[in-house]
Amino acid sequence: MVNLTIDGKQVTVSKTATIYEAACEAGVHIPVLCYAKKLMPYGACRVCLVEVEQMKGRLIPACTTPVTEGMVVTSTSDEIVKVRKTVLEFLLVNHVVDCPVCDKGGECDLQDLTYEYEVVSNRFEGEKFDLPTDEVNPLIERNMNRCVLCGKCARVCDEIVGYGSYSFINRGFETKIATAFDRGLNCEFCGQCVSMCPVGAILPRPFKFKARPWQLKEIDSVCGYCGNGCTVTLGTKDNKVETIRFNDKTGVNDGNLCVRGRFGYSFINSEDRLTKPLIRENGSLVETSWDKALARVADGLKQSGSETGIVTGARLTNEELFLLRNVAKALGSENIDHSGGECYKGLTEGLQQTLGLQASTATFPQVENCDAILSIRSDFYETHPVFGMVVNQAVRRNDAKLTVIADKRGKFTKLPEAKTLLHKPGLEVNLINAMCRVLLDEGLAKTERLSGVDELKAALADYAPETVAETTGVSVDAIRTAARELAAAENAAILLAYGLPYTAASKELGIAAANLSLLTGIAGRTGSGLYVCGEKNNSQGAIDLAVMPGATGLGAQQMLSAAAQGQLKALYVVGEDMVSSYPDRKAVELALDKVPFLVVQDLFLSPTAQMADVVLPAASFAEKDGTFTNAERRIQRVRAAVPSPGDARTDFNILSDVLSAFGAQAPATAAEAFAQLTADTAAYQGISLDMLGAQGYVWGTDILTPITRNLVAVAGSKPLDAAHQLLVGSALYHSGTMSTHAKGPMAVVSEPYIEFGREDAKALNVAEGDLVKLSADGEIIEAKAKVDNRLPQGVLFAPYHFSALGLNKIYRGQPAIAVQVGK
Ligand code: SF4
Ligand code: SF4
Ligand code: SF4
Ligand code: FES
Repeated sequence: MVNLTIDGKQVTVSKTATIYEAACEAGVHIPVLCYAKKLMPYGACRVCLVEVEQMKGRLIPACTTPVTEGMVVTSTSDEIVKVRKTVLEFLLVNHVVDCPVCDKGGECDLQDLTYEYEVVSNRFEGEKFDLPTDEVNPLIERNMNRCVLCGKCARVCDEIVGYGSYSFINRGFETKIATAFDRGLNCEFCGQCVSMCPVGAILPRPFKFKARPWQLKEIDSVCGYCGNGCTVTLGTKDNKVETIRFNDKTGVNDGNLCVRGRFGYSFINSEDRLTKPLIRENGSLVETSWDKALARVADGLKQSGSETGIVTGARLTNEELFLLRNVAKALGSENIDHSGGECYKGLTEGLQQTLGLQASTATFPQVENCDAILSIRSDFYETHPVFGMVVNQAVRRNDAKLTVIADKRGKFTKLPEAKTLLHKPGLEVNLINAMCRVLLDEGLAKTERLSGVDELKAALADYAPETVAETTGVSVDAIRTAARELAAAENAAILLAYGLPYTAASKELGIAAANLSLLTGIAGRTGSGLYVCGEKNNSQGAIDLAVMPGATGLGAQQMLSAAAQGQLKALYVVGEDMVSSYPDRKAVELALDKVPFLVVQDLFLSPTAQMADVVLPAASFAEKDGTFTNAERRIQRVRAAVPSPGDARTDFNILSDVLSAFGAQAPATAAEAFAQLTADTAAYQGISLDMLGAQGYVWGTDILTPITRNLVAVAGSKPLDAAHQLLVGSALYHSGTMSTHAKGPMAVVSEPYIEFGREDAKALNVAEGDLVKLSADGEIIEAKAKVDNRLPQGVLFAPYHFSALGLNKIYRGQPAIAVQVGK
């Protein structure tokens, strides 16, 4: 620690602190413009100049100068004020002062500093900038006439996002921030540059002229899309969510968001939202009252009793999931599940068999300090972008060695020095097995406390790196290096994302990843972790609350099979569009068609809802109170910001009414439900709402120690023998089907597509935008072609978010689909 004095105040700070950070600690105000806590020190603007007694004769930038023992700092004096004024005058020479129409007005750092230093006139004269505004993309407007060249946009895009959109070009008066070849912005549209820009040079277009900042009500909540669980601050006006605000004071995301969290809020305001309950009469769905709809639901479910199936997406709050489980109990049914396919079920079973737990073993921020990171699938960035940004920081700032087991290239594979084990589709387990074999063969495995070592050794006889290299197409050297680096790292992470489009071999993959984490000692070691990250915002909450079939109950797929065979009397689907998202659309439609009574509770009249007997209009995450648990086990508060449209109600209220209809007692409030569910859930015991501070509360502490350490032998797969294989997965801009109702993500990716690598596109004579047909098993899907260079030859890709494509007519949970390509 270092002791220094600032404006006569004694302060003790870490020896790595800067003068500015020490001043913040001491409660001394020093103005800044180019400084941002989460970016590397830069020192571009000079408004933070201070005097240091030991460095007499010049003013020192507080934001870049490290503290030293005994330093005596003066933050303000006549001379400092004069210099700061001059800096501001220079900035205002060319800056167009269009505060009356600038959306940043009222929260612009330049405006505030000009006011604070009373810069009422300017001694310098110069031409005002007259650059064209970049409005090429639909989400971000760039008006470089307002830029103060602080470089924050370029730094955040590089250091945090890892995209690198911007750089300074030209010199002197001509200096400006530009994209490559000074074209319009075309990037990930995460909006980090919008959040960082201290002036009105980079603005969110959907928010343009919607409200002045002081007119907005701000409510902290949690993003409703993925398991990253980013905190979002909703900016509302007149009971409408108008924007998402930058906030680095809460949560685990340090103010970082992805395109979905930043621009995907508008589904809340969608005119397509369900606003009235619907009931099927004479074959059609017609509007009805809540009383009638609930009476019909109660009647139907009473009749079906224990032969009811309940399926939910994992977008509900913990409190709502708790009530849903109570509904199952009240019906005497053990048929409850929170998603389709085997992705959740298989993965959690695999983790349970090996580690004795069903969750990530560490928290996200720890990854920034990891020396080695293994990402299983390149899609991890697509499913969990903000966690992906932490990986980027680990690689760029701390030189972490990143290895990606990938069936296609992606953002991760492009990070500096990333090693890509590009394999034939569906062979992830083969590669992980080979890595385990290397660890055991080379004496690198930490086997002391593990059971099943000999059995695993025997089972890995078939997974010599040479054999696996031949099967997968990955070199022996690459397999060995990946295993050695992971074993040698003091702090290491293994990342595995899962969700509906990643159904294949999920149990095997869970086991293989857990085996690797045990052999390397990663699971449970301080600073290291195995991260299993669910696709949806409350996937982990659903697992923690055991929204899964009981001992004699049916899982989602089994419920569908039972329904198709006439062995399920009712299905209650809450917050999931099974027809659009689940593998094997025909089987889902058949099951929903056959089940005698179908209730769907959702925000939109989805293809699943269209088949229902009763449709109950539900609330979005922005309209409810409760908690979500993210993929690192962080329980965070969700807060209602706006009322629901029309007669839509929260799932909590609907489920309370359903429970009442069965004579069961429901907790009166979400807070009461939280108290009950924590008492009822082993991992949550002792946690109170008061304990969920600004950063939430991580159950089981930052490092979760495995309860068991069982190595389990698991078989890999054989490569598919087909000239063209289609991979199904997630696209960065979307999450499930919900984002397809949001204008922001839809403005960037508005329709389904089939992606081709350049080689295949050339050989097949397919150009960008061509309509192409893929056929498999007698089914045909058709979409526009997208051509780029991230897919190996013979491999195609399609995102699963768009219901209209009917991708799940040919996707039945396989790792890859053999397809014929036509036009
Ligand atoms: S929106 Fe994100 S990816 Fe695009 S330029 Fe800004 S920071 Fe970079
Ligand atoms: S656009 Fe904004 S963030 Fe980027 S350099 Fe200019 S003022 Fe700074
Ligand atoms: S979608 Fe996921 S990564 Fe993106 S902002 Fe929301 S929680 Fe964060
Ligand atoms: S804030 Fe210190 S130089 Fe810009």
